[in-house]
Amino acid sequence: MNIDLTGRRALVSGSSQGIGLAIATELARSGAAVVVNGRTQEKTERAASTIRQEVPEAEVTAVAADLASQAGADELKAKVGELDILVNNLGIYGAKPVFEIDDDEWRRYFEVNVLSAVRLIRQYLPGMMERGFGRVLSIAAESAVATPLHMVHNGVTKTALLAVTRGFAKAAAGTGVTVNSVLAGPTRGPGSEELDDSHSLIQRLVEPAEIGNLVVYLSSTKASATTGGAIRVDGGYIDSILP
Ligand SMILES: NC(=O)c1ccc[n+]([C@@H]2O[C@H](COP(=O)([O-])OP(=O)(O)OC[C@H]3O[C@@H](n4cnc5c(N)ncnc54)[C@H](OP(=O)(O)O)[C@@H]3O)[C@@H](O)[C@H]2O)c1
Repeated sequence: MNIDLTGRRALVSGSSQGIGLAIATELARSGAAVVVNGRTQEKTERAASTIRQEVPEAEVTAVAADLASQAGADELKAKVGELDILVNNLGIYGAKPVFEIDDDEWRRYFEVNVLSAVRLIRQYLPGMMERGFGRVLSIAAESAVATPLHMVHNGVTKTALLAVTRGFAKAAAGTGVTVNSVLAGPTRGPGSEELDDSHSLIQRLVEPAEIGNLVVYLSSTKASATTGGAIRVDGGYIDSILP
């Protein structure tokens, strides 16, 4: 299957490192013009340079904006213009006993993990619908379908992201635009440890580029009949036939 995203413009939120950077790299490798994002210009520029080293012909723009607020989303919109592919990758996580998560932290998780995606979808989906093509992908996690006791707040927000996806997919019905979430499993990264149990059917961490590969496919015209769903790249970690 040849996938060529030449002529498509993509944004990956929270892509100055980790899975977001890998997704942006794979989109660039497939020909898309890519906007990378993080909170600081310096680190975001560094991510853009990393992509250019990996994919010399890549068209990459670095846009710093803190997407935890509407002001940040507005700032981004002023610099980025319209998009064909929106990847809501930004997400925070971290272990905390559930009784110690206070209201402020619950709100912060909702702002960063859910509202950041909702705002960008509201901003870019109508233009995609008017033009008759677009791809919206939100990076969820296994925690969306199996709430982890050590980070209930993360799980709750990722579950919400699946419903956000389903809702906006309905809003885009019949327009040529697809809206999906991607259920990633435990993934290799600077902070990741080796897999701590045997849930994974591939018996190893997922590589960030493997998530990028699924995003590339879902971003293409080849995936035109896939919408409103949660597509897994979890190494079989989720012990369920359906997500
Ligand atoms: N890692 C895993 O095992 C795993 C598994 C399943 C799903 N996921 C999901 O995959 C996504 C990426 O995870 P990751 O592990 O790659 O994350 P990560 O390494 O912590 O990277 C987070 C990225 O988000 C940016 N960022 C943080 N706050 C931001 C804000 N307010 N506005 C804009 N950018 C911001 C950071 O850039 P700056 O620091 O430069 O701002 C960084 O580029 C998340 O949604 C996560 O839940 C991860």
